[in-house]
Order: sequence, then structure tokens, then C-alpha cells
Amino acid sequence: MKIVVIGGSGLIGAKTVAILRAKGHEAVAASPRNGVDSVTGAGLNEALRGAQVVIDVSNAPSWAPDDVMAFFRASTTNLVKAEAAAGVKHHVALSVVGTDRMPDNGYFLAKVAQEKLIAESGVPYSIVRATQFLEFLGGIADAGMQDGKVHLSTGQFQPIAADDVAANVADVALGAPLNGIVDIAGPERAPLHEIVARYLKSQGDAREVVVDPKATYFGGTIDEDSLVPTGDARRGSISLEQWLQRARA
Ligand SMILES: NC(=O)c1ccc[n+]([C@@H]2O[C@H](COP(=O)([O-])OP(=O)(O)OC[C@H]3O[C@@H](n4cnc5c(N)ncnc54)[C@H](OP(=O)(O)O)[C@@H]3O)[C@@H](O)[C@H]2O)c1
Repeated sequence: MKIVVIGGSGLIGAKTVAILRAKGHEAVAASPRNGVDSVTGAGLNEALRGAQVVIDVSNAPSWAPDDVMAFFRASTTNLVKAEAAAGVKHHVALSVVGTDRMPDNGYFLAKVAQEKLIAESGVPYSIVRATQFLEFLGGIADAGMQDGKVHLSTGQFQPIAADDVAANVADVALGAPLNGIVDIAGPERAPLHEIVARYLKSQGDAREVVVDPKATYFGGTIDEDSLVPTGDARRGSISLEQWLQRARA
């Protein structure tokens, strides 16, 4: 089956392409570096010719609220239009657990807009909402920096390895469209500050973690359950410790 992976050169995209190819599918990595731009539409119709499934794991180059909103709106609008014209049978998109529960976070608002465009497009779809990637822990620590220390919330956190995300995205893409949302999360849940502190320690990063129940997350307020699934969720199998060991190897 021909499956086009928009953002196929990225962290999740490259892993998803590899999994699908190993299963014998014709997985096409489509992104600007390969001449396919979902924001301008360049190369899109050609890439989608003969495709049965499109997986969107692209990400915006700028996460400034207006930029990320413009990116996901333009990209998703172009994708679903091109998919309808090409007769694509399944649109799969990767979103974030809790997107609809953080109204003061510009990135999450853009993902909500992306999800809405997909649900209203008429193209059969599945939305996979993942918790934060373990590969993103360093970025979360950097975003929490204030006065030389890492300020982090006590909210619950359940990060997932990119390998587990890609395996789930590929699995959903090979199934029937859900016309709905599935949550995926890592195998362990603990407060955000605890997990990032374990990560920093394992990296030999001496930055102090300040536990602050009021700390924002990328500028948005979060409560106890903002970042974790509150209902049923698929679970990844790679623990933080296993992931840290692999990263050190
Ligand atoms: N970070 C997290 O913790 C987290 C958690 C849950 C969900 N997510 C979601 O996961 C998705 C993938 O994230 P990632 O970290 O794998 O992304 P990434 O590594 O930053 O890769 C981004 C990809 O998007 C492509 N891209 C950029 N502009 C494009 C355009 N105009 N047209 C087509 N493709 C374009 C890039 O292509 P080039 O290489 O050619 O520039 C690249 O392949 C995102 O949608 C994000 O919202 C992330």
C-alpha cells in the first residue's frame, strides 16, 4: 500500500517510514527537503497520486502562537483538499494529549484547530494524541529556565519514547479509520518536575529543579491532569530508565 508521510524526515516521521517499509509498504517521506511543502502546496498532488493513506507528522518551524496556528491551518487545509482529490482513504494525524484542555497555550490551540479541520474535512481519519516525547525532556527543561534554575510544575506527566509513538502511528495507519481520537502515553506517570529531574541527573546536567505548583508549561497554565490521558489510552513499552540507558549506550 502507498502511504505518504508528511514530515517523513522528522523525529517521528523517519521512524514511522522505516516501520512501514519494514512491513512491505511503499512509504514515501514527504517534506520540504524532498520537494513537498504542505503549507504552499508545492509537490503535494504529485506525492499523493496513488496513495491510500496519508500520515501527517509534520511540525511548524516556528512555535510562536500566530506562526504555529498559520502553519497547521494552511497545511491541514491543503492536505485534506489534495487527499479528497486523490481519493485517499485515511488521514492520520499526530496531535498532543490534552490539547483541548489548555486554552491559554498557543501551540495547543493550533493543534485543536488542526484536529477540527481534519474532523470536518470529510476524509476518513484517525487522530493519535501522544503525551510528550522522552526526546523532548531537554526542551522542557530549557523552557522552564528562570534565573538560572529550572522551574517545573507538580502536574502529572507520562512521557513516551518516539519509538513507541511511531509504532502506534504506523499501527493506527494500517487499521480502519477511527473517525475519532486515540490517546497514547508512556508506561510511567509521575510529577513533571520529578521526571525532568531524573533526566537532567542522568545527563550530568547540574541545573537545579525548582518545584513550583504554579509554574507554567510553555507559557500556559496547567493543572494536575492537563498533560496526561484522563480516559482510555494505549501505553508505550519503553520506560524512562530503558530510554536513558539506550541514550547513554
Ligand atoms: N514534541 C512532543 O513532545 C510532541 C508530543 C505529542 C505530539 N507531537 C506532535 O508530533 C508531530 C511531529 O513532531 P516531531 O518532533 O517528529 O517533528 P520534527 O522532528 O520537528 O519534524 C518536523 C517535520 O515537519 C516537516 N515540515 C516542516 N515544514 C513543513 C512543510 N511546510 N510541509 C511539509 N512538511 C514540513 C519537516 O520537514 P523538513 O525536514 O524537510 O524541514 C520535518 O520532517 C508534531 O505535529 C507535534 O505536534 C509532539
